[in-house]
Amino acid sequence: MNILVIGGGGREHAVIKTLKKSKRCGKIWCLPGNGGIERDAECYPVKATDMDGIVQFAKTHPVDFAVVTPDAPLVLGCVDRLEALGIPCFGPDQRAAIIEGSKVFSKQLMRKYGIPTAASAMFEDPMSAISYLKTCEYPVVIKADGLALGKGAVIVNNLQEAQKTVHEMMEEKVFGESGSRILVEEFLVGTEVSVLSFTDGETVVPMVSSMDHKRALDGDEGLNTGGMGTVAPNPYYTEEIAARCMREIFLPTVEAMNGEGRTFRGCLYFGLMLTAQGPKVIEYNCRFGDPEAQVVLPLLESDLLEIMLAVRNGTLSSDMVRFSELNACCVVLASDGYPKKYETGFEISLPADDSHIFVAGARREGDKLLTSGGRVLGAVATAPTLREAIDGAYALAGQITFRNAYMRRDIGARALQAKE
Ligand code: AMP
Ligand code: GLY
Repeated sequence: MNILVIGGGGREHAVIKTLKKSKRCGKIWCLPGNGGIERDAECYPVKATDMDGIVQFAKTHPVDFAVVTPDAPLVLGCVDRLEALGIPCFGPDQRAAIIEGSKVFSKQLMRKYGIPTAASAMFEDPMSAISYLKTCEYPVVIKADGLALGKGAVIVNNLQEAQKTVHEMMEEKVFGESGSRILVEEFLVGTEVSVLSFTDGETVVPMVSSMDHKRALDGDEGLNTGGMGTVAPNPYYTEEIAARCMREIFLPTVEAMNGEGRTFRGCLYFGLMLTAQGPKVIEYNCRFGDPEAQVVLPLLESDLLEIMLAVRNGTLSSDMVRFSELNACCVVLASDGYPKKYETGFEISLPADDSHIFVAGARREGDKLLTSGGRVLGAVATAPTLREAIDGAYALAGQITFRNAYMRRDIGARALQAKE
């Protein structure tokens, strides 16, 4: 089967390397891909948000199956466009992708169907938001309704910070139209867990759980980033909690989407907070997490392509999805300064075995691989214990060099504490 993958980050590199293990996997094209992905797939410079460009490419190449993984093309209806050409896809259609595309939608969904989440209020104009914020106890979380490159949630500690955030989102429109509506949300206290799941709209099969490290600096200090590292499984996510999440969150969400006539088929990502009152939803994503995919997919023992086809065709069953008992850790190497200002264009030197290196921000120039983004790549290791996986990922990261490389030194430290 010839496969078209849309996207060009570390997550897409992990998806592609995993798809290549399938016996049925033929050629892989990736739009736009990156300099690292080029080793594993044929890349063409068509942006993941260029719907017409993607359709044009699909019309002129013998594509048997398409895998759409980033949020933006899913929300823009990439799957609908490709399916209309007769190309089966892995990924939700536009009506279902709204579960990530609009935080107001997903909040209303959870309220309507009794799915546990933070209490919140929605505002469409800054004046009423501010009068409400005058009555709040702090901290609270202010969220832009639409996609905002993962930066649309701001924790504010007092009224001044709240006013500034409302002004930026609703008046300066730093996230464009995404900030036309905002949510003011109760601040949840607890441990965060990411659970990705496969669902065909009827059956939902959770993957191994994981823990992201979103802040830029050690000790969870500094700015929010796309994610500086991950471990899987997440030791705080016990079997008992998993069973409760299935009952109270996963199945009800899939049924709620059906109830709204928005059947979700693809990877549904549950961002959860384990609170004293039980697990609650922080956010839904309509796709694999990045860098969650980089630790979850290397632990998958089953054939990813077969699973994706079953998700598309409505024939998913839980025995199709098997994970190993190993632990995995991903350490992200970023350009120093990320997520703010950083320099790029530096040559990357990789060890001979790069099978567990997932490239996110790099371009090829002749034989050279040069940095081209904030998050440059992820170094991943799997091992019987979490400690060994962490040591392995840092050992691999230590064999990778580029001039302004920056990484957190404490990926997995919090997870190790849970074990002690
Ligand atoms: P989001 O953009 O919804 O993924 O939020 C980004 C991060 O903000 C999350 O991973 C949490 O760490 C934090 N966050 C979001 N909503 C809440 C909340 N209601 N309470 C506490 N932390 C939150
Ligand atoms: N790592 C978080 C996300 O992909 O949204």
